[in-house]
Formats: sequence, C-alpha cells, structure tokens
Amino acid sequence: MLYFETERLFIRSLSENDLGDFLDYRSDPEVVKWQGFGVWDEAEARAFLLEQAERRIADDDQWTQLGVELKADRKLIGDLAVQLHSDHSAHIGATLNARYQRQGFAREALSGLINYLHETLSTNAVIGLTDARNAASIKLLESLRFNFEKEDRDVPYKGEFCTEYTYRLLIT
Ligand SMILES: CC(C)(COP(=O)(O)OP(=O)(O)OC[C@H]1O[C@@H](n2cnc3c(N)ncnc32)[C@H](O)[C@@H]1OP(=O)(O)O)[C@@H](O)C(=O)NCCC(=O)NCCS
Repeated sequence: MLYFETERLFIRSLSENDLGDFLDYRSDPEVVKWQGFGVWDEAEARAFLLEQAERRIADDDQWTQLGVELKADRKLIGDLAVQLHSDHSAHIGATLNARYQRQGFAREALSGLINYLHETLSTNAVIGLTDARNAASIKLLESLRFNFEKEDRDVPYKGEFCTEYTYRLLIT
C-alpha cells in the first residue's frame, strides 16, 4: 500500500472502504464538470476502488488514483491522479470534495505528491492538463509554480470541443 503524509493529510492507496466518501464527491456534477468523466454511480465507484486498491505507481503510462484523507477526522476528502512515464516525467491531477475546496488541501496534497515522485521515483518533470475554463485548476497549477507551456484548441471533450492548457513543472 502506498502511503505518505503531509501536515494535514494522509496520501494513500484507495480501498473499497472509501466508497461512501468517494461517491460523495464523484457523484457531484460540479466536481466532475471539467473532468473527462461524468458523475459516477455506486457500482462504477466500487469497481474502480477495487481496481485502484491493487495498483502501484509504475512507469507504465497507467493512471493511478491516490486517496486524500484528512488527518483530523480520518475522512477521504478527494483523490490525486498520477500517470508515470518512462522518461521520468509524470502527469498529475486532483479532485477535492466541494466542501473541502479553497482551504489549500489540493496544493498541500499535490506538493507532497511531487516531492514523493521526485524522491522515490526520480521524477524530474510534472505535467498538468486543464480545460481553459477551469479557473480553479489553473490557479492551483500556478500556485504550485507550474509554467504555462501550450494551448491546444479543438480537443474533444464530453461531446464538444474545448481548449486545453498544458502546464509543466521542472524539478531540479
Ligand atoms: C481544482 C481543485 C482540485 C482545487 O482544489 P482546492 O483544494 O480548492 O485548491 P487549493 O485550496 O489548494 O487552492 C490552490 C489555489 O487555487 C485557488 N483556487 C482554488 N479554487 C479556486 C476557484 N474556484 N477560483 C479561483 N481560484 C481558486 C486558491 O485560491 C489557491 O490560490 P492561491 O495560492 O493564490 O491562494 C478543486 O477545485 C477541484 O477538485 N475541482 C474539481 C475537479 C477538477 O476540475 N480538477 C482539476 C482537473 S484534474
């Protein structure tokens, strides 16, 4: 089981026991608005948690989702996504329960993940993709000192086309 902690958070593998907390935010239309998937039902969420519980971060281009648990009340308040590549780069993402947003939790969790990837897996570049309309995601990446790299127009997204921004952080 993957595990590390930050000041206020445990970052760890997901498990089937997370089902209630996980569905609480993954079934919120506002939370998934700018993400590649829609709202989840219980069966989809359970299958996903079972699959993720077995996953380890490896440079196989597969996405791994990690739980973000609040130390204070042992509640799962969100998750991080990481996709590791063989060139020592990684794509990352974050999803927070709306009730826990704007309290610095995503920044704290991703900052911890970036340190973990660098120290344990020698990752030296981290990439974040975001819909150009996702102001929270853009601010989050900028607050972590990611640099704007490029804009891609006409990226297929939920039946329409969107503009996608790529941000990159080089770790030295
Ligand atoms: C994007 C997201 C993860 C940010 O989580 P968060 O815990 O609220 O972010 P933080 O509290 O750590 O804030 C980080 C920075 O973003 C800013 N920010 C957060 N939400 C914002 C919003 N809705 N509008 C403007 N700025 C926002 C914060 O003020 C902070 O900036 P600062 O350092 O200048 O003060 C959260 O909004 C979310 O889960 N959104 C839905 C899922 C999603 O779209 N994820 C991104 C794509 S993978």
